Amino acid sequence: MPSYGLDRFITDCSAVAAMNGDPADCVLAVAPLMERLLDSDRSFLRPEHVRSDPGHYARNAIYISPDQHLSLFALVWLPGQWTPVHDHGSWGVVGVLQGVLEERSLMAIDGAITADHGIRLKRGGVILLKENSISSFVPNPDHIHLTGVPETRAMAVTLHLYGRNMNSFHIYDVDKGTRRLVDVPHQAT
Ligand SMILES: [Fe+2]
Repeated sequence: MPSYGLDRFITDCSAVAAMNGDPADCVLAVAPLMERLLDSDRSFLRPEHVRSDPGHYARNAIYISPDQHLSLFALVWLPGQWTPVHDHGSWGVVGVLQGVLEERSLMAIDGAITADHGIRLKRGGVILLKENSISSFVPNPDHIHLTGVPETRAMAVTLHLYGRNMNSFHIYDVDKGTRRLVDVPHQAT
């Protein structure tokens, strides 16, 4: 029986995105597709997809849809590499290929964020995503978190499917209560 591969995953996810439905319905539909992809022989992964960078976590683009409505990245996290506090402005589904990804959530005390200042964030819970685990998020109320791998753990490799071309996102300064939109290159951030 042929393995569920990248082409079918992209086709199936594109169909979900094209419905332009509620973000919660999108992640409900995509999560089992990510599960099938993680259970595949993973032959779609090429060396450039699992490239690491000693300076920061590596963000390797696997697929960007021509209409910008879908993107898939492989992120490689060496021990001690973390994102800043950020949101995505989109729904997304994360699957762990290797290692353990730690996700620390933050919540906006005042509800939906409508300005780039005066943002009050409260630290929330933590999730440890092991190999083959799947996580998801939806925007609004804003999904804000930082993710990474502590120094004490081995490297991790994770797949991230987003409901848009994830070429920018908000980075938060928790102490100052501000956020700014930053462009992120496809190969690294
Ligand atoms: Fe994130």
